[in-house]
Amino acid sequence: MCGIVGYVGGRPALEVVVEGLARLEYRGYDSAGVAVLADGTLATAKRAGKLVNLRDALAEEPPPAGTIGMGHTRWATHGPPNDRNAHPHVDCTGTVAVIHNGIIENFSALRGELEEAGHKLGSDTDTEAVAHLLEDELKGGGDLAAAMRRVCGRLEGAFTLVAMHTGDPDLVVGARRNSPLVVGVGDGENFLASDVSAFIEHTRDAIELGQDQVVELRPGGVTVTDFEGRPAEVTEYHVDWDVSAAEKGGYDYFMLKEIAEQPRAVADTLLGRIGADGRLTLDEMRMSDRELREVDKIIIVACGTSYHAGLIAKYAIEHWAGLPCEVELASEFRYRDAILSPTTLVIAISQSGETMDALMAVRHAREQKAKLLGICNVNGSTLPRECDGVLYTHAGPEIAVASTKAFLTQLVAVYLIALYIAQVRGTKWGDEVFAMVQLLERMPEKVEKVLETMEPVRELARSLAGERCVLFLGRHVGFPVALEGALKLKELAYMHAEGFAAGELKHGPIALIEPGLPVVVVVPPRARAVLHDKIVSNIQEIRARGARTIVIAEEGDASVEPYADTLIGVPAVPTLLQPLVTTVPLQVFACELATAKGHDVDQPRNLAKSVTVE
Ligand code: G6P
Repeated sequence: MCGIVGYVGGRPALEVVVEGLARLEYRGYDSAGVAVLADGTLATAKRAGKLVNLRDALAEEPPPAGTIGMGHTRWATHGPPNDRNAHPHVDCTGTVAVIHNGIIENFSALRGELEEAGHKLGSDTDTEAVAHLLEDELKGGGDLAAAMRRVCGRLEGAFTLVAMHTGDPDLVVGARRNSPLVVGVGDGENFLASDVSAFIEHTRDAIELGQDQVVELRPGGVTVTDFEGRPAEVTEYHVDWDVSAAEKGGYDYFMLKEIAEQPRAVADTLLGRIGADGRLTLDEMRMSDRELREVDKIIIVACGTSYHAGLIAKYAIEHWAGLPCEVELASEFRYRDAILSPTTLVIAISQSGETMDALMAVRHAREQKAKLLGICNVNGSTLPRECDGVLYTHAGPEIAVASTKAFLTQLVAVYLIALYIAQVRGTKWGDEVFAMVQLLERMPEKVEKVLETMEPVRELARSLAGERCVLFLGRHVGFPVALEGALKLKELAYMHAEGFAAGELKHGPIALIEPGLPVVVVVPPRARAVLHDKIVSNIQEIRARGARTIVIAEEGDASVEPYADTLIGVPAVPTLLQPLVTTVPLQVFACELATAKGHDVDQPRNLAKSVTVE
């Protein structure tokens, strides 16, 4: 949510900043702006709409060339997305510029106070208050970093702030509480950004900033202190992917590339976690066997697509590890009285590791002394720091807003965790765990096979572009898959789409069925006869009422053929692993349908990839 870039060094700052923003645009794209400091003056430019509008404005009226600058791409919280509310915001004197990600909760009191003191605020944002507070702190000269520390002390809420001041033309200052901010360390130049993709083409050496820290960035060095000005301990790391991973690589959209990358992403997430003897090693969980044996309950918290991975995890954990497992939307979790104890393991799933709802849920669980495990795709993000252990998914950078490859790798991660707990606790025989692990290792090839057969799905999607509503049904792990299929369609095609447990159909949703309504049904493997046969009955029920049935079933499943207007075959795999193959056609379906409607599938309206506000 909101992309932030800061640069100081020897190159033309505008270029570095705008290119960085282009890589961060997935975080928010309702307006964008830059500030450059040149010849002792601050020049800013900002435009509503996508980055291209700002680029056009900059081409028409280029600001003076400088080697220090910052930029912002916005997902509006306070005030509509127009030129006026776009960042950067400046103070009354035009000597301080600020960009911000997050929400300053006490902004209205601060604005009132500033206006009473004579400040003129020109936007509806919470951010602008910070520019004016810094102005007051810097009256008569002074140190921008010290001023920032004092201002941060007055702010409530979540924020990342970056500021520049004409009084110190070699300095960019950043401050971080809750919202993400990383430092890129270069040679004679340094970078600040919401995530490393913004500077990955210049450097792969990064510094992770902690909570309540202020960073001073100069061409020759980086200093990090806490809000009291004491030197802070930081973690340096090297990014293990390069710029090509964050580019489209010949695809029209990142989403298409990311869907295609899934076999490799699944394989990479398994890598290094299976020993030669087939035994799993998950040291990253940082839990001893004794601690794992003591766990008596698992609670999973997550949002959006990650929540759907959590719903699937429940089936795997209960079946393999024999532990009760609850799954909760992170945004709801801390507002009920969940029963947690030191023997509860809370697993937070988040691709970005920055979703505020998930982070808040983790903090709530920490207060109740539960053990905390993160499943996360972004090294250097906040979630891993807040958990006792973390299992990284190795999907590589996911840029398209709607999650695809990260979801599949989250499934792999939860399967590994469930099987590992089964191995440690002995709830399954060693050879049963081993057999399942072997099947898991074959999943990249199965996913590849699905991808090879997607043309009819694309054709189907194009033919349905004029529809207003699509329903999705599933049973068992097929139910979360149905939810995920519906979510993809909502996110990308802006269509009314709902996922239902097929057994629930008769308790209400069946009233929605009318002649011609497309209904996608995810059919469990034939081996699960009870589940399978029940859903075949459900297909007949909706077909009898005129629905157009789109059936996803195991290849060669003849029993569904008579009832399927369209049949999509997927490779035969065990029931619990089936979401790895049944989700893929739904991703392709939504992506193609949205494209046929002329939508930008990488940047759907109103959404942001990383939602850093509650
Ligand atoms: C946003 C994105 C979704 C994503 C959700 C959770 O809403 O638009 O695609 O699933 O956040 O994100 P996380 O990074 O926590 O997995």
